[in-house]
Amino acid sequence: MQPAPQGTLRILHLSDTHLAGDGALHHGTVDTTAALEALLASLEDLTDVGLVVVSGDCSDDGSVASYETLRDRVGDWARSHGAALVVVPGNHDDREGFRAVLGNGHLLGEGGAPLMRTLEHLPPSVPVTGISVVAGRRIITLDTSVPGAGWGELSDLALERLRAWLATSDDDGDGDLGTVVVLHHPPLPAPTRLHEALRLQNPQALESALRDSDVRLVLAGHYHHQFTGSLAGVPERVPVLVAPGVANDTVVTGPYDEEHGVIGTGALVVDLATDGSVWSTPVRVQRPDDGDEAFSHSAEVVARIAEEFGRS
Ligand SMILES: [Fe+2]
Repeated sequence: MQPAPQGTLRILHLSDTHLAGDGALHHGTVDTTAALEALLASLEDLTDVGLVVVSGDCSDDGSVASYETLRDRVGDWARSHGAALVVVPGNHDDREGFRAVLGNGHLLGEGGAPLMRTLEHLPPSVPVTGISVVAGRRIITLDTSVPGAGWGELSDLALERLRAWLATSDDDGDGDLGTVVVLHHPPLPAPTRLHEALRLQNPQALESALRDSDVRLVLAGHYHHQFTGSLAGVPERVPVLVAPGVANDTVVTGPYDEEHGVIGTGALVVDLATDGSVWSTPVRVQRPDDGDEAFSHSAEVVARIAEEFGRS
């Protein structure tokens, strides 16, 4: 891939790794640790990455071991490539397990240097949020998960923190090239009924917070399908990039009421230039069972999951 132009922040954007602490297969079909390792190995020669982002559903079982796998595998890649590392929880994550291993999710700073961890015990009702500065950009992570639910929401607390951070002027010159917001549930319509039932419930609250801010880019996951949009309520038209899943791909061309997944692993390489322009390059790793069925849910099963974990 071409070198990143001077001053450009290159981000390796991963999402939905769905790692299992005991090595259990995702949906009984996907070895997600092997998928992650294959993806990272295929990206060994990628240059100029300043930041690695994992935008949620890091774990499939919420176990400490699954978060350790993420920390070790992705952390090693980021460190050896001189990149910062930021991770945010998704609906499959467990805040206690996440915090026990990953703290507030801001693991590595500029150049891959470990960040100081604050030892604070927060109850699971408190969303995991954080901020750090990488290559002159503020990176804000927001937890859109709702314990016990599949749908997402920006809580009052998360929104309060977002507004406070965005309102903070940058006196020391750090972070003056704008802000990147990372969350799991995209503030965009979903391609299937199941994901629509599991979508972010209050995208307008995000739009309102981002209006007149210095946010240049929103990164999300959740749909297991590469997806691009912008926030209509923000005059600056902040781009929203949704990464494909590491664990599997969603089939978006089937019947809307059904949900089908196939084996497939990808990520985005996102470049954020100093003038705020953004471009992204999808990357895939070829796996031996690429395209094989990962799972298949009938309309009845989708309706049941949507009833239990979603919102209509
Ligand atoms: Fe997911």
